[in-house]
Amino acid sequence: MALTLDFSDKHVFVFGGTTGINFGIAETFAKHGAGISVASRKQENVDNALNELRAIGPHMFGAVADVRHPAAIEQALQAGCAQHGNIDVLVSGAAGNFLSAANELSPNGFRVVVEIDLIGTFQVMRAAFPFLVEPGAAVINITAPQAFVPMRYQAHVCAAKAGVDQITRVLALEWGADGVRVNSISPGPIAGTEGTRRLLVPGTERNAIDAVPLIRMGTKDDIAWLAMFLASPYGSYISGTVIPSDGGGAFDSVKPMIEAAGKVDAALKAASPSRPR
Ligand code: COA
Ligand code: NAP
Repeated sequence: MALTLDFSDKHVFVFGGTTGINFGIAETFAKHGAGISVASRKQENVDNALNELRAIGPHMFGAVADVRHPAAIEQALQAGCAQHGNIDVLVSGAAGNFLSAANELSPNGFRVVVEIDLIGTFQVMRAAFPFLVEPGAAVINITAPQAFVPMRYQAHVCAAKAGVDQITRVLALEWGADGVRVNSISPGPIAGTEGTRRLLVPGTERNAIDAVPLIRMGTKDDIAWLAMFLASPYGSYISGTVIPSDGGGAFDSVKPMIEAAGKVDAALKAASPSRPR
């Protein structure tokens, strides 16, 4: 049997889907025929995403919605599904990240990342459930290696993404009987994204690449293709899993970035002793 991936007449809804890896997923599904809905906080990002998506196909919907606000999620779902029908593929990838030593991270700094990544993912899944095509829908959460690799300056992200992995597994148990599959993708370092911009200290790119067994950063396409496979009939017996796409070694490849950031941080502190510790 030839492998074809055709999402014509399918509705793919991507929360946090207006930039970066998540937009790459939306764009790739669009190129394979899907009607797309995207949502994120900033009108400008929604507008830009819609402009690019409409160059691929006519059936595109975008909404401003913050995943921390259940009413906004509900409104986006209602409007997207009024246009495209119920959801065949739900992608939940809204996230925030910054480097901060735990002892310098305010409670609100910790909370904001947990609220976006973990509680936001739960709220999206919970609100979307009545809109999922049953049986047959695929839910894909976007997690990160920090879920299982403890990393310096990432206490907030490690906690949030570990939670994302567990709700992925739990909801796969609860929703399996409805014919809804739930999985997560865990990308390694992906070139040209906000995530690597925030973690990769300029000048240390080569170290990070050399630490990846495949000796390259990932691309947005690497993640989008895995999402398409997972959502397709070829992935129809896969549920409750967290699948890395990380060039063979998330632990080795992401750690040098964090270590480099720590050295820069220490140098900055030494240069300005008045900075609170
Ligand atoms: N270091 C330490 N604390 C930080 C920080 C940093 N670099 N950036 C933000 N914070 C803290 C703030 O000080 C604030 O805490 P406080 O009220 O105690 O001062 C708290 O985090 C919330 O910050 P705020 O800017 O109000 O949050 P926001 O809701 O506007 O933005 C963020 C959310 C902080 C996650 C922001 O970085 C963001 O919008 N990120 C989205 C894009 C992204 O991170 N992409 C990569 C995905 S991997
Ligand atoms: P990105 O471009 O910043 O993507 C984050 C998206 O989420 C943006 O579209 C942003 O748009 C949206 N968003 C942020 N906060 C939101 C909120 N409260 N409500 C709704 N939408 C929100 O970063 P990225 O690097 O591509 O990361 C995408 C995903 O991949 C994240 O889940 C990240 O953890 C994961 N990941 C990335 C890497 C990497 O190498 N980049 C590695 C591992 C995992 P607005 O600003 O308009 O809201």
